[in-house]
Amino acid sequence: MSKSKNPAAGAFKGSVIRRFNWALFVLYLGSVALSAPAVYWMTKQQVYAQAENELGLLVGMGKAIRGYVGGTLRPFFMENDIFFAPGFSGVVAISDVARHFAGLYPDYHIRTSSDNPLNPSNLPKPLEMELLAQFRKNRDLQVIEREGRLDGQRVLVSSAPMVSKPGCMRCHGEPELTSDQITGEYGTKSGYNYELGKVVGINTVAVPLANVNALTLMRSSYVIGLLTLIFALIFIVVNLLVRRSLINPVLELRDTVQAVTKGHIEHEVEVKRDDEIGQLAREVELLRRSFASAMKRLRK
Ligand code: HEC
Repeated sequence: MSKSKNPAAGAFKGSVIRRFNWALFVLYLGSVALSAPAVYWMTKQQVYAQAENELGLLVGMGKAIRGYVGGTLRPFFMENDIFFAPGFSGVVAISDVARHFAGLYPDYHIRTSSDNPLNPSNLPKPLEMELLAQFRKNRDLQVIEREGRLDGQRVLVSSAPMVSKPGCMRCHGEPELTSDQITGEYGTKSGYNYELGKVVGINTVAVPLANVNALTLMRSSYVIGLLTLIFALIFIVVNLLVRRSLINPVLELRDTVQAVTKGHIEHEVEVKRDDEIGQLAREVELLRRSFASAMKRLRK
């Protein structure tokens, strides 16, 4: 006797498992689609947190150098009446340190710049020019922290204005009154005639911002690979489970009911399980028994 005689049997065979698999597939696509923006967001947060952290360290280091020059070196040189620019001015000391630092970490920037510089290499770069203009426009600004481009590289930058004070005039006042050490090294054309209280330049510290997009791409591919592996495992387990505990017993029961329908009412329905399917089998067995006794009564 062929099963295909029952139209319902053929039409619905395997449809439960197909539905499960579709649901799994849609879930998989959904998690893959969600993973890219989630990874992007997390990567961005992390890249900025790291840059902020590094920036804080560099700014702190700059302050420490200025403190060291002002608190330890300058008093010594003043007391002994020696003029030595890096021991006198934190700006000069930091410029020196920055040059050494740049050799070690070329992607990090520690700079002092001015549009009236002693040292032409301290002329402001476009981003620094913008910051300088901002500080001149708004004298209440103490710090600007923002993203920008320096030497073609994306950076997080922290900048502070440099205001001329009487102490600066020793080296940045009228060139005739400035130490020969300064004019000898830097000439007399630029870097002088500071006006008191004016924003003459800026301090800039900049740290590289890692490429968020490239990092996101790399991390997303890991996450998608992992998701694919996890879903493949879920797929295999769900298919095995659904087949073993749902599809196969239901098909068995269907065969029994088919047999009863065709008049083979003497075969007892086996109740193998203690769950919903087992209950259904029990009900089918009860149905078969009452069917059988009804038939017996009819035959008498
Ligand atoms: C002891 C001398 C001396 C004193 C005092 C001094 N500077 Fe300078 N400053 C220099 C020298 C030298 C440079 C150049 C350093 C270099 O080669 O990068 C410089 C550089 C700078 C620069 C970077 C642009 C440039 O001129 O090359 C700024 C801005 C600046 N100084 C501001 C100040 C301010 C503001 C003060 C006072 C708070 C001050 N400086 C005090 C000697 C001094």
